[in-house]
Amino acid sequence: MRLTRALSWLCVLALGAVVFSTPAAAQSVNRAAIDELNEQLLYVALPLTLFVELMLVYAIYRFHNNDDPRPTIDDPALEVTWTAATGAILVFVGVSGFFVLANPYISPAAAGVTEDGGMSDDMEVEVLTYQWGYEFSYPDSNVTTSETLYLPNNTDIRFTLRSSDVIHSFYIPDFGIKQDIFPGQETTARTQLTETGTYRLYCAELCGSGHARMQADVVVLNQSEYDAWADGLSRNTTTPDGANATRASLAQPA
Ligand code: CUA
Repeated sequence: MRLTRALSWLCVLALGAVVFSTPAAAQSVNRAAIDELNEQLLYVALPLTLFVELMLVYAIYRFHNNDDPRPTIDDPALEVTWTAATGAILVFVGVSGFFVLANPYISPAAAGVTEDGGMSDDMEVEVLTYQWGYEFSYPDSNVTTSETLYLPNNTDIRFTLRSSDVIHSFYIPDFGIKQDIFPGQETTARTQLTETGTYRLYCAELCGSGHARMQADVVVLNQSEYDAWADGLSRNTTTPDGANATRASLAQPA
């Protein structure tokens, strides 16, 4: 019976290892950094889990019929060893996590990437959220859209996020992006996308009865397709200042 239980545990762990160790190719630099961290932590956690579980199974099996249990005698060497090993593992986890957090794509504000900040080569997309939808403005192309967010790949993109009413959250799981948006405050998210395709943007902060509807498609195009899309829209723009830029109902780009 115990052997069966131990074997089922081993199977679950082995299955977990297979599932977690083969992530799909990342769609953004953010996602790549997060996936890599997950993998590193998994390589540490998995042998530790196996070791602890095996010790537990061994102890249950070896001592289950012990009629005369004795307390463990002091073993300073053992205590120092496991304290130092635990400390080393925690330092590894902390340092690995810090480097991902300090990544200028993951924490652009902490890295000094602000609207006026150093990395002005970024393409800017202004995202205005409201109950319950999005408005996407592309200052470089003088275009404003809703419904679908079009983005080029292999370009540094900075999202400037604003809310016109309550707290929302800008969440694109495939890109590893999740950033809260506060009324009266501007927040920033940053990425570079590596794979073309269609993804999904969600609001991840309960913001009222229409929260579940607050989703949009994200279409990643290569640079020439993206330029063609932006050119096509800006030609339809009615005023040059962008204030009344066409609220286009979008067709797929050619
Ligand atoms: Cu906006 Cu939930």
